This record gives sequence, structure tokens and C-alpha cells, in this order.
Amino acid sequence: MAERKPIVGGNWKMNMTRDGATQLCHSLLLEAVEPQIDTEIVLYPPYVWLTDAATILSESFIRLGAQDGLAESNGAITGGVSLTMLSELVDALLVGHSERRSIFSETTDKFSQQLVSALDMNLLTTYCIGENQTEQESGLTYQVLEEQIGSVFEGATGHHLAQAVNKNPGALVIAYEPVWAIGTGLVAQPTDVQDRAEFIRKEISNYCDAPQLIRIQYGGSVTQKNAGDFAALKDVDGALVGGASLNAEDFLSICRAFSVGKH
Ligand code: PGA
Repeated sequence: MAERKPIVGGNWKMNMTRDGATQLCHSLLLEAVEPQIDTEIVLYPPYVWLTDAATILSESFIRLGAQDGLAESNGAITGGVSLTMLSELVDALLVGHSERRSIFSETTDKFSQQLVSALDMNLLTTYCIGENQTEQESGLTYQVLEEQIGSVFEGATGHHLAQAVNKNPGALVIAYEPVWAIGTGLVAQPTDVQDRAEFIRKEISNYCDAPQLIRIQYGGSVTQKNAGDFAALKDVDGALVGGASLNAEDFLSICRAFSVGKH
């Protein structure tokens, strides 16, 4: 049995009608039956379809997560949705996705608060990191990864975060997603992804006692065709999938690739 159970996330982003969302949940449940998939599967639908998804997926092996959520528990924040509210519906959370960084200009302050609150609530918490194209072309990839990891472990909140991770290292997942590969059809070279995953695990060891228990996903144009290449990598434990997660067959093929590749 592998030390780290493979984990594949389906980030639906701002996609899907209500009908489409419920159909996709039903199809995933029906089609996932055979052959057995020994991969943890987490879906991240838009907020508005979470209740429908929670009803359909309740008691199933598919977990439900939110794409974002505020650490503040309640208050005068128009449009805000708190982790306290979400925790009644979901048991997982994405933090720091590159689209939150670029479209909403969100930064480390928010991410470290979210990571701490989510882990304190026992949510399966995925922190997304990765370099953009300019950073990659300037040879800054490792520097960016080091900064994105180090910054959330700084100060009092960072100290609290390290404690929360040490308490339950299996609840933290790091998604390595080169920004230039997200939604573009461009895929990182598996050898580069392995090097970066190994680097991320080493960086995490500066803050946490059991980096070998923290799962690392690759994200960026993962499809059923290339999933096997990433599943074969020693330090890659799963994938965070955007576009290909909107189709049940494609998404489950990716889940199966990690199930086979890791056992
Ligand atoms: P993609 O998205 O699979 O469509 O590239 C990945 C992500 O944003 O998590």
C-alpha cells in the first residue's frame, strides 16, 4: 500500500448549468463502479451547485470541495461565503488557485488564513502554487515555488499552519500548477514535474515534520492521454484537473490512471 493515497480533483471553475452539474455527478457515480478506482476523488463545483452535488454524492466515495471560501466566519462581507458555512456542505477546499491570484489579485495574507482555518476545520485543503510564463522563461521557477510555500508559513499564522499540518499531514495537498499550462493545452514535461515535486517536498520539510505524507498533485492541461505519464512520477500523487473534469468519462480515466499507476 502506497504511503500516500493518490488524489484527483475536478475543478469545474465557473462552468456548468444546474442540469449539467447534476448529470455529471450522477454519471460519475454510475460510471465509476467498474473497474474499481482506488483514488481519492474530489469535485469542486461552483458554490451555487454545491447543495445539489452534496445531495447526490452524499454517502458516496466522491468527496465535495469548494473553490474558495473566506476564513472570517460571518459578518458584513457582501458576496462573501465563509468556510464555516461551507463546512456544512463540503469537506475540501482549494486555496490560492492561479485564477484567484491573477483575476482577483489575492495574495498570501488571504491564503495563509484560509489554510489555517480550513485545516482547523478538518477540511482536505489543497494549496495551489506554480510559476507563470514570464517567471518560467526567466528561470525563476524554483524561486517562485520557494516563495509561495515559504510565505504561507511566515509569522504567527504560519506557525499555526505548521502546527495544523503536523497534526494531520494527510489533510494538506499541494497542487503544482504551472500557470502557462492551465487551460492552454501545453503540458509540463514529466521530468520537470518530478523535479519540481521533489523540490516542493524538500521545501515543505523546512516547516513540517512529515513531508513524505503530504500529497503533491500536478495540474495544467491534464487529460486521459497524458495522465499516465504523471501517475508514473515518484513524487506526484495525483492531479488537479480543470477542463477534462467536465466530462465523466475523461475525468474517470484520469482517476483510473492514478489508481493503476500508484498501486
Ligand atoms: P486545466 O485546469 O486542466 O483546464 O488546465 C487545471 C486547473 O486550473 O486546476
